Amino acid sequence: MCPNNETKQARAQGSSSPILAGRTVALAVTGSIAAYKAVQVARLCVQAGAKVLPLMTASATRFVGPVTLAGICGEPVHTDMWDAQFEGELHVAIASRADVLVIVPATADVLARLATGRADDLVTATALCARGPVLVAPAMHPNMWTHPAVARNVRELREQGRVSFVGPVDGVVASGESGVGRMAEPEAIVRAIADALGEGDEGTAARRDLVGKRIVVTAGPTYEAIDPVRFLGNRSSGKMGFSIAARAAERGAEVVLVAGPTALETPPGVRRRNIESTEELRHALDDELGANVDGADVLVMAAAVADFRPAEASATKIKKREGEPNVVALVRNPDLLSDIGHRRRGARPVLVGFALETGDDATVLAYAQSKLTAKKVDFVVANAAHESLGRETNRIAFVGADGAGPFLSGDKTALADALLDRVTASLRA
Ligand code: CTP
Repeated sequence: MCPNNETKQARAQGSSSPILAGRTVALAVTGSIAAYKAVQVARLCVQAGAKVLPLMTASATRFVGPVTLAGICGEPVHTDMWDAQFEGELHVAIASRADVLVIVPATADVLARLATGRADDLVTATALCARGPVLVAPAMHPNMWTHPAVARNVRELREQGRVSFVGPVDGVVASGESGVGRMAEPEAIVRAIADALGEGDEGTAARRDLVGKRIVVTAGPTYEAIDPVRFLGNRSSGKMGFSIAARAAERGAEVVLVAGPTALETPPGVRRRNIESTEELRHALDDELGANVDGADVLVMAAAVADFRPAEASATKIKKREGEPNVVALVRNPDLLSDIGHRRRGARPVLVGFALETGDDATVLAYAQSKLTAKKVDFVVANAAHESLGRETNRIAFVGADGAGPFLSGDKTALADALLDRVTASLRA
């Protein structure tokens, strides 16, 4: 068995990864109740043969004892930039010794400081100095994780491309409440460390597994004109599609984002085409995919395409008529995805559809299943309207020829990565 297969098998079994053997992990702990789980992360890394250099912020020492961490790691715990015992610059020395820096747990405060490039303690100074992968495992109350200031810092860090995230996940947090904010489990963090080390070449944790692939993503609503003032639209924010486009570009793909009306900013490295109506979306897709619909490796149809449009858009503003109801006659829009699915010859592009539904999980999955076959796509992303529309987070399940996977919860960027992992598997198949 080649080492790569061994690694994959070990990971699939959830056991420690051989990649960690002989590697140096700087493990920084910041002040959150989840700090006690950092001890388990340290233990798993040590068991996998890694040397672990523990760092703690002053507030982390209130949650877990430095002696515990030092005992597990067999290394002194550093908490202070100004450690008189140490000759030279501690943050520079740790950053150059470590193959990877992992911050477990990462508080809202440390994310803010990382996003703005602060270096006001040993942890953030080491993160600025590190040239290998930097991984953070956020942990905080869901109200904090969804706060716009935290969301902005997370977005900023993702755009900078120097920090990777593992979690947070949806679950019970310290207060007993539930939501996205719970730290990823220690085993998942250790797998993410191994993944970050496995990538190696560029010295960042950014995955570049989509280099050379051309991906077209549609996002947002369509607006179907009733008259120059009014339209028929829907509540799609476009966030899921924009997250997919952003992550695909970060993972190295050439990305075209065909966007319906939304105020969202174009992600870095993405070529954007704005459309308004389904008809304009159809033209844009014809243009990008060509007559044989094979002009891209992947098409992700995250757009909430209107099924109907007014039979005629009035050239002038429609006036109300006294005593008479105004009736807008509707006609069906073409089903763009189904049309592409039926025209596709061979395995390209990989086609991904969305099914945004109302109802319980079983209903949502049943609709997604029927769209999979009716539209001849490779897989459908099933999600419920109340868990998706306008939100930063989502709960999705992939429905493919091999059946329906479990529902996954998380922020839309993490789910975009899960979707792209599934896409890369389809590209390999
Ligand atoms: N879609 C499309 N063209 C349309 C309608 C939908 O390409 N006219 C695509 C969407 O982008 C999405 C998928 O088809 O990827 C499913 O869209 P959805 O509106 O959920 O399904 P419909 O086919 O419209 O089915 P229904 O109205 O029965 O829910």
